[in-house]
Amino acid sequence: MHLDLDGNGPIYEQLSRALKRSILQGALKPHARLPATRQLAQELGMSRNTVLTAYEMLVAERLALPMKGSGTYVAANAMSTAATRRVAASVPAQSRYAARLRDLPPITSHRLEKTVRYDLRYGEPMLDLALVTAWRRELSRAASRCDLNYPPSNGLRELRETVCEYVARRRGVFCAPADVLIVNGTQQAISLLARVLVDEDSSVVVEDPHYPYAVCALRAHGARIVSARTDSEGLSCEALPREGVSMVYVTPSHQFPSGVEMSPARRLALLRYAAEQRCWILEDDYDGEFRYEGHATSALRALDLEDRVIYMGTFSKTLFPALRLGYLICPPGLRSDLIGAKCFDDLASGAIEQAAMAAFMGNGGFERHLRKAALELRSRRGSLLSGLQQHCAEDIVVTHSSAGMHVVGWLPGWPGHRMSSLVEAAQSCGLGLHPIAPYYAGTPPCAGLLLGFASLSSAQLRVATRLLGETLAAVKTAAGLAGTARQPSGVQAQREPEVHAESPPTL
Ligand SMILES: Cc1ncc(COP(=O)(O)O)c(C=O)c1O
Repeated sequence: MHLDLDGNGPIYEQLSRALKRSILQGALKPHARLPATRQLAQELGMSRNTVLTAYEMLVAERLALPMKGSGTYVAANAMSTAATRRVAASVPAQSRYAARLRDLPPITSHRLEKTVRYDLRYGEPMLDLALVTAWRRELSRAASRCDLNYPPSNGLRELRETVCEYVARRRGVFCAPADVLIVNGTQQAISLLARVLVDEDSSVVVEDPHYPYAVCALRAHGARIVSARTDSEGLSCEALPREGVSMVYVTPSHQFPSGVEMSPARRLALLRYAAEQRCWILEDDYDGEFRYEGHATSALRALDLEDRVIYMGTFSKTLFPALRLGYLICPPGLRSDLIGAKCFDDLASGAIEQAAMAAFMGNGGFERHLRKAALELRSRRGSLLSGLQQHCAEDIVVTHSSAGMHVVGWLPGWPGHRMSSLVEAAQSCGLGLHPIAPYYAGTPPCAGLLLGFASLSSAQLRVATRLLGETLAAVKTAAGLAGTARQPSGVQAQREPEVHAESPPTL
């Protein structure tokens, strides 16, 4: 197959663009099967993982569709999607922002369809019918009582008050309702902060590995991204630039995606760095509420005496991502700029949802849901970890991590290029696996998988881990590999899982 790579950026992005061009120009017709990844990798002299990532990008753009067990196909409606793109492509980017957007890798938060039965994808919510019922009740009450005028841009007072009380109790963050800005999730918060704090070419430090949606939003705003390595204590400040940094974006309670918790020494070093550099720290506390071992450490913001930390919380993990509701705790000096940015972005977040959320938090429903969800998540996590121990111990080492809704399984003995065979073989038996490599700007310490456990029941997770063990064995046999699970350097292994469904959650 003839493909012209344009030489710009990572190879997987170049390959994805070349394939996209072939689809747009009609060389690859709807329903056509894309070449087998192994064959294309050989033909182009690149790793199979690269080809797989390029295919995933096409799938994310809805131009291609993976078919269980038989490869990836050009989507039936690719031409209409392509036609829309062609119109867009024929217009040069109309602003520097649009040009930067076009340069970003295509990522989408919306999942098209479930292609496998047991998908260990990170970010899938836990289905809870009782929560849906309770939420419907709150929404309907809020809709009948709510002031139907434009709400204040910083959010309804009652929600800001309950958020204050909540972050003080749960995360050790003390603030006044005036410091709280209600936003449409973390994603909007990052965009608002980029507008207020980042000029084109300002340097923003992000962790490596990183959360792609945050990095893309920052790049779209023109930030120059400085990727900083993390280790078993989280982000190290030693190698950070000594000047010109406007913001450091971090996930201290549960580094995304490695799962590492930032050590107290590193937290203090980061706060010192921000004070010296007079830069801002953006603390993304996306899933700090769900903790399964030990005591919850307070948020970084709780240690901040210089008002350098902007704290971000979201209801996407504690309730569900469809809600699109979150909050920023702003240092006083940034409050009015951020409220102004929010006002001119969308005037305000939806009043009915805010009122429903305030009532849900105020009447104890939210707290009850969190306790129940934590027990269920603890049990699911236990099933995943014991399943991995039982079926995959020869190959997989799980990073020590005691919070959140995913763990990382490292495969120290596995050559990176074998990961695509593993993913494909797993897919053909109904198991969705997601390598960690795309989350790294550099090279991961070794091959690894992001294992999300929130959306599968304990029974499903037991089947999933058995399937994973069988797939690992089959791929190893086919490739003539021996099982060699060693500790990858810089990775601290997970202790034997503790599953105490009856013990109180350490939220
Ligand atoms: C690191 C990180 N931050 C934040 C979020 C939540 O983003 P939002 O509040 O926009 O849904 C996620 C969701 O997966 C995440 O992984």
